[in-house]
Amino acid sequence: MGFSTDAIHAGQHPDEVTGAVITPIYQTSTYAQQELGKNKGYEYGRTHNLTRSSMETNIAVLEKGKYGIAFASGVASAHALLSLVKAGDHIICSSNVYGGTYRLFELIMKDYGLEFSWVNSSDLSNIEKAINKNTKMIYVETPTNPMLTLTDLRGVVEIARKNNLISVCDNTFMSPYFQNPLTFGIDIVLHSSTKYLNGHSDVIGGILVTNNENFHERLRYIQNATGGIPSPFDCWLVMRSTKTLAVRMERHEKNAMQLAKFLSDYGAAKKIYYPGLPSHPQHELAKKQMRGFGGMISVDFGDIQIAKKVLKNVKIFTLGESLGGVESLISHPATMTHGSVPKQEREKLGITDGLVRFSVGIEDIEDLISDVKNALS
Ligand SMILES: Cc1ncc(COP(=O)(O)O)c(C=O)c1O
Repeated sequence: MGFSTDAIHAGQHPDEVTGAVITPIYQTSTYAQQELGKNKGYEYGRTHNLTRSSMETNIAVLEKGKYGIAFASGVASAHALLSLVKAGDHIICSSNVYGGTYRLFELIMKDYGLEFSWVNSSDLSNIEKAINKNTKMIYVETPTNPMLTLTDLRGVVEIARKNNLISVCDNTFMSPYFQNPLTFGIDIVLHSSTKYLNGHSDVIGGILVTNNENFHERLRYIQNATGGIPSPFDCWLVMRSTKTLAVRMERHEKNAMQLAKFLSDYGAAKKIYYPGLPSHPQHELAKKQMRGFGGMISVDFGDIQIAKKVLKNVKIFTLGESLGGVESLISHPATMTHGSVPKQEREKLGITDGLVRFSVGIEDIEDLISDVKNALS
């Protein structure tokens, strides 16, 4: 089926009891069992919930995967993912990832015996050079938060297969509408469903998607055993939202492209990072592995004072953490999303104090452009 047909129907059937077209919120912690050892396949809410499994199937289909395993946040998904490796194992990661992923890996999981190498994965040779005897996983985010750096997914798969490594891609920025890493052979896709998948800034959630039966079995086991599941209501909200993912993503991208062009022409920025601009160093790769360029733009104003003025003076863009909602948000990565990355590391990545990140919403673009123009002037 086409993307929107799947988005609206996959994983969902009219309710068998009432015919309700929309999958109900099964807000229950437990299920009546007919007799000892006999039940309808539902025993306990942490293990089984039909609203959750409908949402998992829905997103798995959109990601061209067989299995979705949902968690209470994107970070909880990343934490569960690490259950596929054990103490003494080594993981190669994109040097620029969401700050919370860096914090989880480097500042928490390292203490449990995992080793991490942070490499600029936009150059595949850096991944190859980092492979050790104990390497088990390659974890990339593409495009990255907030620098919008791309990694060649086909290249990652080639390296992973040659060296028998698990390949993982955080696809949060593109959403399944613009990029499907599994189709290139990536083993596991991660999403913060808090972002575009839900898209209305009212849910925190995460999901892992895979085609691999063994990973699915293990991750399903981990989901139940560690218990970081999303609530039925949150699952229902995400499923409500994926129905409009295609139209939202089209509009996010259209608006972002126009705002990026405005910012380029206006001339106040030192650097603009948007994969849709031909000036983006990986514009050609973006055209090859993505079906669109997304709604995120980062701008280096070269000076924290200018950044502060923009952040303070915008009226429609809301200063806040997060991204991917219908309303435009603006943030300062150095002190907000990437505050836990040491300053020296941040500067190396380009996350300067003058960098401002725009999550371009789906409002009227004329209003968004005049908002930014007013703030700049
Ligand atoms: C790219 C990316 N991955 C993962 C996460 C973590 O998701 P959550 O905030 O839902 O835990 C975020 C959050 O901003 C993100 O931007």
